Amino acid sequence: MNTDVVRGLRGYWHPVCAESDLEDGRLLPATLLDEDIVVYRVGDDVLAVQDLCIHRGTRLSLGTLRDDGCLVCPYHGWEYDVTGRCVRIPSLPEKNQHIPSRARVAAYATARRSGLVFVAHRPVTSSLRAPRPSRLA
Ligand code: FES
Repeated sequence: MNTDVVRGLRGYWHPVCAESDLEDGRLLPATLLDEDIVVYRVGDDVLAVQDLCIHRGTRLSLGTLRDDGCLVCPYHGWEYDVTGRCVRIPSLPEKNQHIPSRARVAAYATARRSGLVFVAHRPVTSSLRAPRPSRLA
């Protein structure tokens, strides 16, 4: 996709799947504006993060989802919390987990409306307003 088009569409919500596609524990790979993401549910929340482990580039959608919402990479087991921050590296001593702050994957804003899951190519902390049902018709 043309990079100018991608840049222009980043400010909008995009439907990526149906809510019913996200059964408990399922990691759903999707593509958002040429970027691979993984969409999943933790309790009542729907999360979307970059589908790329920052360690060696493995797809996180091939990993597992723990009960606490951490995504675990299938290759070396790095664990990412619901904000995309790496919170555990198994090869480091448990009492000495000095994880660099740059060890994180991008997490994106999500919204659920009319049975669909929308993702915006914006950080979770952005003030992007959720899509209104009247605008989805
Ligand atoms: S590639 Fe993900 S932990 Fe190594």
